[in-house]
Amino acid sequence: MMIRSRYSALAFFILTFSIIAVCDKLSDGGDFIRLPSEARRFFDGDDVGTRWAILLAGSNGYWNYRHQADVCHAYQVLKRGGLKDENIVVFMYDDIANNEENPRRGIIVNSPHGEDVYNGVPKDYVGEHVTVDNFFAVLLGNKTAVKGGSGKVVESGPNDHIFIYYSDHGGPGVLGMPTSPYLYANDLINVLKKKHASGTYNNLVFYLEACESGSIFEGLLPEGLNIYATTAANAEESSWGTYCPGDSPSSTPDEYGTCLADLYSVAWMEDSDAHNLRTETLRQQYQLVKKRTAAGNSYYGSHVMQYGDLKQSLDTLYMYMGTNPANDNFTLLSDNFLWPSSKAVNQRDADLLHFWYKFSKAPEGSTRKFESQQQLTEAMTHRTHVDNNIKLIGKLLFGIERGPKVLNNVRPAGEPLVDDWNCLKSLVRKFETYCGSLSQYGMKHMRSIANICNAGVNVQQMAEASSQACTSFPSNPWSSLHRGFSA
Ligand SMILES: *[C@@H]1O[C@H](CO)[C@@H](O)[C@H](O)[C@H]1NC(C)=O
Ligand SMILES: *[C@@H]1O[C@H](CO)[C@@H](O)[C@H](O)[C@H]1NC(C)=O
Repeated sequence: MMIRSRYSALAFFILTFSIIAVCDKLSDGGDFIRLPSEARRFFDGDDVGTRWAILLAGSNGYWNYRHQADVCHAYQVLKRGGLKDENIVVFMYDDIANNEENPRRGIIVNSPHGEDVYNGVPKDYVGEHVTVDNFFAVLLGNKTAVKGGSGKVVESGPNDHIFIYYSDHGGPGVLGMPTSPYLYANDLINVLKKKHASGTYNNLVFYLEACESGSIFEGLLPEGLNIYATTAANAEESSWGTYCPGDSPSSTPDEYGTCLADLYSVAWMEDSDAHNLRTETLRQQYQLVKKRTAAGNSYYGSHVMQYGDLKQSLDTLYMYMGTNPANDNFTLLSDNFLWPSSKAVNQRDADLLHFWYKFSKAPEGSTRKFESQQQLTEAMTHRTHVDNNIKLIGKLLFGIERGPKVLNNVRPAGEPLVDDWNCLKSLVRKFETYCGSLSQYGMKHMRSIANICNAGVNVQQMAEASSQACTSFPSNPWSSLHRGFSA
């Protein structure tokens, strides 16, 4: 008995010793039989190649303050985690910090009493250079394809880890951009496949905040690309802004008049801010973020989803985000932090909330009062126009009874939104030609247009129905096509 336990202790000692030796050899980069990846991951967390990140805010306008605030905050998380600026590519329109509506000029916050997150953020692609084409070129590491901006691209190698975080409005199958056209899910998936085929990463993680963000990956992102994605919402629901004005006492100061953050986004970032990321896995963060974003049984909240190679969620966050040395003593389990209570607002209503705040606080008879009233009216007019005309087109194409059924149909989970993406794009263009821009709000109707495609309607039929439904369109900035077509 004694002898046996002594033997096993010795065996244990030898085993431990050999593992240490293996780790030493590995970190020396010497020739050595490599451990299976899981074991290597456990014993040698530093062996992750270079960490790269793309952070993209897809909106502009002060009423969309929160998307750029999210992206700035994400930069601070990664910077503190030890990523270098040369490896972080930031896309943001950059019209928030110095916006005349911003009560704290030059500063962006992502929570009511949060610190400035704008300081130090690299302005790689700003203004008109925040485009789908530049995003794709940057991800593919194609310098010659980039137009404008810093020219920084993800020049990753086979051992590297890539983290992509995107925050914006979206709709079924699309993500917004401050410029047109919007980003279509199938194009994104094709670029991810191309990146994988080029052998220039080990693993990639994609965090996505947008309405109906699940539809970007649902039935589209295959396994085997070494990509793990989580989304703020499933394929058929809104995602939510948070830290909005009108919060119960003391939270978001009314002076901002706009939501400061998004629910899913602050859930992952406030978690990453506070913990030793060496000890937390992507899966643990997913579960935590899912719980916070679902918001209990309240009237708001959305279903956080995961897609792609789910076993990759056993990776530590450290492999993608690094870790802030100041958090070394805060592991996920040791820390029992409370979520601040806060009012959440549907992404699609956050602009109305801003205009309403602006209106209600402006002095009676002022230009500001008039201006904000006009903005509110124009935004409402645009909504009514788009909603009514999509409905009418459905009825013209399929009849009064069947129209709404076809338009509102939701395909079973696991199926992509549409079979023919080129059909979707060309029908969107036909709609916009006759009815004006879909705009941020109108993106919600992408499912209806996709269903029109799925029902076999062709471009000619769509053109006829659109021209009948829309004899003209409002000239306000939401409906007009001054920014070009969405597709
Ligand atoms: C990079 O982009 C340019 C311009 O769009 C294109 O001609 C070229 O084929 C691309 N290179 C690679 C390696 O994809
Ligand atoms: C973590 O705790 C140890 C032991 O109490 C202490 O020496 C160390 O300074 C702490 N690290 C940080 C970053 O607070």
